[in-house]
Amino acid sequence: MARVIGIAGSLRKGSFNAALLRAAAAVAPAGMEVEIASIAGIPLYDGDLEAEHGAPAPVIELQEKIASSDGLLLVTPEYNASMPGVLKNAVDWLSRPPVGAAKVFGDRPVAIIGATPGMGGTRLAQAAWLPIFRNLGARVYVGKQLYVAGAAQAFDAEGVLIDDTVRTLLTEFMAGFADFIAAR
Ligand SMILES: Cc1cc2nc3c(=O)[nH]c(=O)nc-3n(C[C@H](O)[C@H](O)[C@H](O)COP(=O)(O)O)c2cc1C
Repeated sequence: MARVIGIAGSLRKGSFNAALLRAAAAVAPAGMEVEIASIAGIPLYDGDLEAEHGAPAPVIELQEKIASSDGLLLVTPEYNASMPGVLKNAVDWLSRPPVGAAKVFGDRPVAIIGATPGMGGTRLAQAAWLPIFRNLGARVYVGKQLYVAGAAQAFDAEGVLIDDTVRTLLTEFMAGFADFIAAR
């Protein structure tokens, strides 16, 4: 059983990206389990804090989860044509200290998807993540891209995916990611 850690990069209760993560977990193929984790509680990165106390507990907990997983599914919102600061901040913390970053991200299969109410579908945010995961030595899944534009129509008021086309594409994407992990 491949265990994938899923992280949505939004703290909002009604987050479309959290909804997309739940939908991705639901359509994961047999043989893959997506465990939904959270970046809530991770403080702003502060080198003094790190020097005095090391990484905070929510960071260590998430590092351990990812390090013991078979892959990471990052569900990214798009802010100002790039990734949101809260999610970049979380990944920055997760990459500390550099020697530990190799255990968390080194050779780790990473898939990136995202949702936005706008028309671009987070394609710019997804592209902006590529040099970061390359820098961290992760193995980014670059199969078919999965992005959700017009998210307000794709999910209902409870955050349940109601767009059948997106569900089909998401199912194919997750199957492709599972194959990518299995081919390691
Ligand atoms: C500061 C800020 C900048 C944004 N910039 C973009 C953008 O460049 N492209 C886009 O598609 N949506 C943009 N949005 C809209 C977000 O996609 C939208 O708020 C979305 O719901 C955030 O994801 P969430 O639903 O998971 O919280 C921006 C939102 C904020 C707050």
